Amino acid sequence: MEILHTVHEVRQWARRQRAAGRAIHFVPTMGYFHEGHLSLMRRAREDEGAVIVSIFVNPLQFGAGEDFDRYPRDFERDRQMAHSVGVEAIFYPDVAEMYPSGYQTEVRVKELSKPLCGRSRPGHFEGVATVVLKLFNIVTPDRAYFGMKDYQQLRIIQQLVRDMNLPTEIVPCPIVREPDGLAMSSRNVYLTPEERAAATVLYRSLQWAQAQVAAGERDALKIREGVYQQIAAEPRARIDYVEVVDADTLLPVERIERPTLVAVAAFFGAARLIDNCLVSG
Ligand code: PAJ
Repeated sequence: MEILHTVHEVRQWARRQRAAGRAIHFVPTMGYFHEGHLSLMRRAREDEGAVIVSIFVNPLQFGAGEDFDRYPRDFERDRQMAHSVGVEAIFYPDVAEMYPSGYQTEVRVKELSKPLCGRSRPGHFEGVATVVLKLFNIVTPDRAYFGMKDYQQLRIIQQLVRDMNLPTEIVPCPIVREPDGLAMSSRNVYLTPEERAAATVLYRSLQWAQAQVAAGERDALKIREGVYQQIAAEPRARIDYVEVVDADTLLPVERIERPTLVAVAAFFGAARLIDNCLVSG
């Protein structure tokens, strides 16, 4: 497995893959791998081609007072895990390689960045869209793999690809969960044992929503209220939002008739956790 630190090295690597007639499959990450990340890499391996992963904790997508400095990092562990699932190269740049002094440009996917996490994390999705566009320009992937755990991020990247005519196919991948349902996240390490136990309320409330819709409930407000009450009943949870939105536009719906996203965000102590599920009328 090759460890590439510079844009130049990645361009040379990509050129070699193309010269050998191979497609390039790309998994962008911020590292500190768990099974969610590995599932994306395994999915990429299933497709014919070379798999490259990036590890870059992107300062542009963290707000002031957010966890950029304490975001968990362990390159050696990540390197071994990526190797174990057959990744061929890791792009591991430092901040100066991605944002050299004098750096100026940002991209914004206007409407999709506004609701849900966009409201409580101003500038976050501009940071995400900007770094992903840069990474795509460096790696030149045929396919890139994104988890549905960060559903709004996935929609923003799909829109970015469409609007900017990028030649990369976006492959959405299902949410990987702990045995008790908690969505895997690098940020779960922030949780105390008590908060960790309390955090299972997110998935339980989403499962309830799914069951209600499966049983014929179409009133989005009722679903939203029910999910809200269940999370609010957990004393260790501080709700950021509970929303029932159109799965394409991410705008609130009144009736569940088309593919619909139930999305939640809540703080448990220092950790802000998100989760979601798709339901369909
Ligand atoms: P990161 O949080 O490291 O996530 C990298 C990828 O793993 C994302 O596509 C995310 O949706 C996916 N992922 C995380 N947890 C998952 C889970 N439990 N199940 C399935 N997939 C999961 O998302 C980012 O990094 C950054 O914003 C990035 C896109 C790399 C831009 O900096």
